[in-house]
Amino acid sequence: MADREDVRRAYDEITATYTSERIATRDETEAAALEALFDSLPAGCRLLDAGCGQGTPALEYVLDPSNGCDPELAVGLDLSRGQLETATQLVPDAALCQGAMSRLPFAADAFDAVTALYSLIHVPIDDHPTAIEAFARVLRPGGRLLLTEGWTEWTGSNPDWLETGTEMRWSMAGAAATRDQLESAGFELVAAGEFSDALADEEDARFPYFHARLAE
Ligand SMILES: C[S@@+](CC[C@H](N)C(=O)[O-])C[C@H]1O[C@@H](n2cnc3c(N)ncnc32)[C@H](O)[C@@H]1O
Repeated sequence: MADREDVRRAYDEITATYTSERIATRDETEAAALEALFDSLPAGCRLLDAGCGQGTPALEYVLDPSNGCDPELAVGLDLSRGQLETATQLVPDAALCQGAMSRLPFAADAFDAVTALYSLIHVPIDDHPTAIEAFARVLRPGGRLLLTEGWTEWTGSNPDWLETGTEMRWSMAGAAATRDQLESAGFELVAAGEFSDALADEEDARFPYFHARLAE
């Protein structure tokens, strides 16, 4: 819980910087993965973006009519009120709520897709299986999940992330553990690869992504 409070406070403080840097960086692989995810869904799909932050890129993508998604429901959930306030500006048509992804306040089968881009990596490692099981619970059978992780298990922090003077903490379970957790929660892998994250500390940082389908 202490980790989550740290993360929530940190994002409240840095939302303006995070948002402008996130928007300024474009990852073609991420854009292609989002396109593949939404191409697999029917018109009138229901999306939950877990750890939606400022609402880009997932909510923005599904709510842009030029992408042809026409969602019935686009919900963003995030711990940080600051991030959600930014999302109200960037994705005004999304339904936004404050909450934790390991305790999703939604009914079973409520969504056709869940995205968790660079957000599960802030949840304490011991809670990753709970969060992935929560994604499975709120998805309909056959629903899709797109998430990012770290390649290897790592817990740590940066005391001055994005030169904001704010400390940020991460908890990555690693790709192998995440694959196991997806399988245990009833997902089968549709596609996997890696995104490049220009906001990471190391130059040319790569983060694995998983596009998975919940068993029928
Ligand atoms: C790196 S940002 C990613 C935002 C957006 N998904 C993106 O791709 O840019 C991580 C977001 O996850 C949120 N977050 C972290 N832990 C969370 C949790 N346990 N439940 C819900 N949101 C969480 C943070 O508040 C933050 O807005």
